[in-house]
Amino acid sequence: MLIHAITADPVYEFAADARTGLTKPGQKELPSKYLYDDVGSALFEVISVLPEYGLTRADERLLQRNASDIVARLPARVLVAELGSGTGKKTRWILRALCRRQHTSYFPIEISPAALAMCKRELGDMEAISIVGFEREYLDGLLEVAARRRPGDHLLVLFLGSTIGNFDRPAGCEFLHKVRGILQPGDSLLLGTDLEKPIPQLLDAYDDPLGVTSAFNLNLLARANRELDANFALEQFEHCVRFNPQARSIEMHLRSRRAQTVEIPRSALSVEFAEGETIWTESCHKFSAEEVRGLARATGFRCDSQWIDSEWPFAESLLIAE
Ligand code: AVI
Repeated sequence: MLIHAITADPVYEFAADARTGLTKPGQKELPSKYLYDDVGSALFEVISVLPEYGLTRADERLLQRNASDIVARLPARVLVAELGSGTGKKTRWILRALCRRQHTSYFPIEISPAALAMCKRELGDMEAISIVGFEREYLDGLLEVAARRRPGDHLLVLFLGSTIGNFDRPAGCEFLHKVRGILQPGDSLLLGTDLEKPIPQLLDAYDDPLGVTSAFNLNLLARANRELDANFALEQFEHCVRFNPQARSIEMHLRSRRAQTVEIPRSALSVEFAEGETIWTESCHKFSAEEVRGLARATGFRCDSQWIDSEWPFAESLLIAE
C-alpha cells in the first residue's frame, strides 16, 4: 500500500528555492535535496557501487553482519519506520532478523515515488512483513507512523546511509531532537554515520574517475533546464569537490568555466556568473564515533551500542530514547 502526500507543487518549490539560493549574497547555493530526481536517484545507485565510494557497502556490511545482534537489543513488538528508504536493499537484513521473531510492519518514508516503488519491489517478496510506504517529508511521515502504534508497540526508526551527514551539524542535531520528540521512551533509532578518514580518500570518493559523481552533480542543472526552463549550458560548468576542515565535510560545487548569464524563467531570474564562481550543491559531513554518542546524549537518546566497519570507517549506532 502507498500513501501519497498532499504536498505543495514541487516544481514551484524548486523554482522558489532556486531563486533564493542563486540570489544569496556571496556563495550561490542550490539545496541538495534537488539532486534526487529520477535521474539523480539512478546515478546515486551507481555511485553506491563505485570502488572509490565505500560508504554504502560499509553500511550494508554492518547491517548484514550484525542484524541479529541489533534486533536482540530491541524490545518486543517493534514497528519499523525508515527515513529515506532508497531501494530498501540494506534494510532487508534488519527486517529478515525481525521477521524471524514477529510479523513485522515496515513503513518506508520517502519523498521520491520512484524510490518507494523500488523499495516495495525489492522487499515485496519477504514473508511475515507488511509494507506501507509514505510519500512524505521525513518528520511528517514519522508522525503518521507514530499515530498508528497501539499500546505496547515500540518504534524502531532507521536513518541509514549517513544521510544525517548531509545536514549541517546544528541542523542535524535539531533534526534528531525533533525525531526524539515524536518517539516514546524505549523506542530506538538506528543511525548510520560515515566516519572521518584521510582527505585524499574522501576526495576520490566524491570525485570518481568515471565521472559518475560529476554527472550526479551536473544533473541538478539539467533538472533546472527540464523543470524550470532554465538554459544552463552543462559544458560550461564543472563538478568540483573540496574538503572543509572547519566543518569536517566534503563540499560539492558546480564551477562556472567562464563569465556567463543564465536565464531561469520559472524563477523569474537572470543569474550572472563570474569565471570560476561556484554553486554549492551539497555537504557531506564526517563524524567520530565518540561524537555520535555525544549527539545522542544531546538529543535525548542514550547510545546502547555501536558497530564500526573495519574496511571503510562507518558506524551504525543504536540509540535508545530516554
Ligand atoms: C546520500 N548521502 C549520504 C551521500 C553522501 O555521501 O553524503 C550523497 C552523495 N553525494 C555524492 N556522493 C554521495
